[in-house]
Amino acid sequence: MTEHALFGEGFAADPYPAYAWLRENAPVRREVLPSGVAAWLVTRYADARRALADPRLSKNPGRHRAADHASGRVGIPGERGANVMTHLLNIDPPDHTRLRRLVSTAFTPRGVAAFEPRVRALADRLADGFAGRGSADLIDEFAFPLPIYAICDMLGVPPEDQDDFRDWAGMMLHTSGKRGGVGRAVKRMRGYLGELIHRKRGALGDDLISGLIRASDHGEHLTEEEAAAMAFILLFAGFETTVNLIGNGMLALLRDPAQLARLRRASAEGEGSLLDSAVEELLRYDGPVELATWRFATEPLTLGGQRVAPGDPVLVVLAAADRDPERFADPDTLDLGRGDNPHLGFGHGIHYCLGAPLARIEGRAALETLLRRLPDVRLAADPRALRWRGGLIMRGLRSLPVEFTPE
Ligand code: HEM
Repeated sequence: MTEHALFGEGFAADPYPAYAWLRENAPVRREVLPSGVAAWLVTRYADARRALADPRLSKNPGRHRAADHASGRVGIPGERGANVMTHLLNIDPPDHTRLRRLVSTAFTPRGVAAFEPRVRALADRLADGFAGRGSADLIDEFAFPLPIYAICDMLGVPPEDQDDFRDWAGMMLHTSGKRGGVGRAVKRMRGYLGELIHRKRGALGDDLISGLIRASDHGEHLTEEEAAAMAFILLFAGFETTVNLIGNGMLALLRDPAQLARLRRASAEGEGSLLDSAVEELLRYDGPVELATWRFATEPLTLGGQRVAPGDPVLVVLAAADRDPERFADPDTLDLGRGDNPHLGFGHGIHYCLGAPLARIEGRAALETLLRRLPDVRLAADPRALRWRGGLIMRGLRSLPVEFTPE
C-alpha cells in the first residue's frame, strides 16, 4: 500500500487500506487536504483518544494561524464571515461548559428514551412506503428522512413544516461540497428556527425547543440567538451522521450474510442485546464520521512524536483509530457480538456526541424495522458500483439499492 492512495481515486469507497498504511508508517502526519488546507492527521487509537481529550487542542477556528477559517474552509459549510454561529462544536471551555450544561438539561437520556416508540413508529411508516414494492433505495426512502423527521419531532417543529426541513436537508446533502446550495439551506433553516423559537416563547410545550427556552442554570438563560444556534447544531450534527449510520451499517450487513442472518435471528427472537452491540460494532466498523471535526493547537505540543506548532489544525481520523489492531482484535472483521468495543465513533472527551442516546435509538429502530419488514433483503447493485459522498468529515453512500420479496 502506498501513501498516495489517500484522498485519491476510490478512496471514499474504501479508505481503510490507506488508513492502515498511515497508522503503521506515519501515525501523525501533516497532509494537504483536498480543500488545500494542511492539517495533521492522527490515525492510531491511543494518540486519537489522547488528542480528543487534550485541552491544548481548541475547537475554535479563530485559533487557526492562517485565514482559512475566514474563507469557510475549516468551519461547518455555509458558515462564513458575519454568518458564523457560536455552537458546541466551535467553542472551548468555559463557554462550551455553560452551553453544554444548559442543553443537557433539555436533552436528557431519559427524555430521549421516552421518544423511542415514536422513532419506531416513524421507521415503520417509512417502510410502509416501499415494503410492498420489492425494491427501494434505502438512503433516499429511509435513512435520509428518518433522522430529519425524528429531530424535527423532538424539537417541536409542527408536522406541516417538517417537509420544508426535508427539502433543506436534501439541499445540504446533495450539494455538499458546493457552498452556495449549502449556504442557502443553512440560512433558511436558521431563519425558520429563529422564528419558531420566538413563537414558542409565548406558548411553551414539552418539546426540546421549549426545553431550550426554559433551560436555566444558576439563573442563566440561553439567549434566543443561542437557542436557535443550538437547535440548528442538533439538526446539523444529528442528520447526515444518522443517515450514514443506517446506510453504511446496512451495507456492511448486506455484504456479510452470516452476520445479517445472526442479527435477523436475534431480532426476531426479541434478543435486544445483539441489536445493541450491533449498533456499536457498525459505528466502529464503518462509522458515519470519518474525521472528528477540526481542532487547533493553542501552544506547541508533541503528538505521536511530531511537533505541532500553535495554530496548526489537527484532525483525528476516527475511522482509522477504530480499526487499530493495537486496540481491537481482528479490527477488519465485522463481529456484531463484539464485547470489548470502546470505539471513538461518537468522539471522546468534552465534545463527546451529545446526541449519542438518540443516534443509538434511531440505529436500533432502523435495523429492527428493516430486518422485520424486508425478510430477504439483498443488495441490488454490485458493491463496487455504489457511489459514495466523501466529504472530509463524513463518509456515506449516495444511494443503497436493495431488492426483497414484497409484503
Ligand atoms: C458531537 C458523532 C448523531 C449531536 C459529535 C462528535 C462525533 C459525533 C464524533 C464529536 C466531534 C468532535 O469531537 O469533533 C455522531 C454520530 C452520530 C451522531 C456517529 C450518529 C450515528 C448525533 C445526533 C445528534 C448529535 C442524533 C443530535 C440530535 C451532536 C452534538 C455534538 C456532537 C450537539 C457536539 C457536542 C459538543 O461539542 O459538546 N457527534 N453523532 N449527534 N453530536 Fe453527534
